[in-house]
Amino acid sequence: MAEAFVIAPRGALGLGQFLAALLCAAGLLCTASNGTNAAPRQAQKIIVDSDYNTISDDGQLGIMAAQLQTEGRVKIMGITVVSGNQWLKQEVSDALKAVERLGIGDRVGVYAGANYPLVRDLASVKAEQAAGAGGDGYLGAWGGPEPKTDAELTAPPDGFALYTHVQPKSAVDFIVETVKANPHQITILAIGPLTNIAQATKRNPEIIPLIKQIIYMGGAVHVPGNSTKAAEFNWWFDPDAAQEVVRLPIPQVVIPLDVTNTVQLTKSIYDRIAHAAKPTVVTALYQKLTGYGFDGKHGFETDPNYTQNVWDTLTIAYLLDPKFATESHDEFVDVIAKPGIEDGRSVGYGNAQPAGTPLQKVKVVTKFDNDRFFRLYIDLLTRPVPVRETK
Ligand code: RIB
Repeated sequence: MAEAFVIAPRGALGLGQFLAALLCAAGLLCTASNGTNAAPRQAQKIIVDSDYNTISDDGQLGIMAAQLQTEGRVKIMGITVVSGNQWLKQEVSDALKAVERLGIGDRVGVYAGANYPLVRDLASVKAEQAAGAGGDGYLGAWGGPEPKTDAELTAPPDGFALYTHVQPKSAVDFIVETVKANPHQITILAIGPLTNIAQATKRNPEIIPLIKQIIYMGGAVHVPGNSTKAAEFNWWFDPDAAQEVVRLPIPQVVIPLDVTNTVQLTKSIYDRIAHAAKPTVVTALYQKLTGYGFDGKHGFETDPNYTQNVWDTLTIAYLLDPKFATESHDEFVDVIAKPGIEDGRSVGYGNAQPAGTPLQKVKVVTKFDNDRFFRLYIDLLTRPVPVRETK
């Protein structure tokens, strides 16, 4: 039965919402205005392992998670940060400001993780590019200098965090301790390179059977890569970690470029956030940083035909309801981790278990319910900030 979505101006109880409220009270149907089933459920405990940025897809996911936390849909155990989009120090700075801006800094800790990949270095990146690895030219942190001091950090438009500080515990220790304290309950939203998760599971293999699931934004299983012709950025940035983690005997869901390429942010969706009827600090940041594209000059504010990926944000929608994935299949997936232009390529083997490999089948999502997803996306990115108190 199709879900009865009730999308109405916040606060105005229309007939649709009144009927929905009656149905929900009768225990027949509970659907929140954000396009998800609001039936009272236990909050999903998540660790967001992220190469955080203020309001590209990692930052957007952080906002969505914070809003869902106020509904009791998720409980953000913590944000663990790893170099990827930016160097660790800058990402931690962005994440601290994000939790402070959202009003959750007192209950969602930011934990510093790996600053460098397990093996890859700048020399290998340069060698690949020289060898014709191709790609869109986005190299993330490798594309710029590593900030060594606070003076070298870039503040978001609304300034650095004023009173929120990084947790003294490392990201790896936090992952290990949180999984052990919540056996079979933790979902890791792995939306950056997998260095932290590889280090945590390698150092403490006893947590492997205790992790409920990993939902990745990563990989390009049956489509070309983006950072190189072969590989998707997150898994390319640390191929050795990606290979180690994807081979772990843990329930895994991969949200690869195969599906994220088909879920594009358009001007009409962008406008409903950037030019929201009730502006917030988030919608203002969204306009300032998303409206002018990754180069700061060409984006939705200058080109009505511009489109942009929302990559990571699909993972939290899938967590809320796997039915957001309208097509997926279970297959053996591995990651190539060897120097050269194939480094970081994700390989899907379908039903054929490659001989001699410790692979297990993972769920690979290939199509999404875009309309339903963007209703959730718009709703969560236009809600009041700071977020309402967590239930
Ligand atoms: O390839 C897409 C991934 O690269 C996303 O996680 C995005 O944040 C960038 O890190």
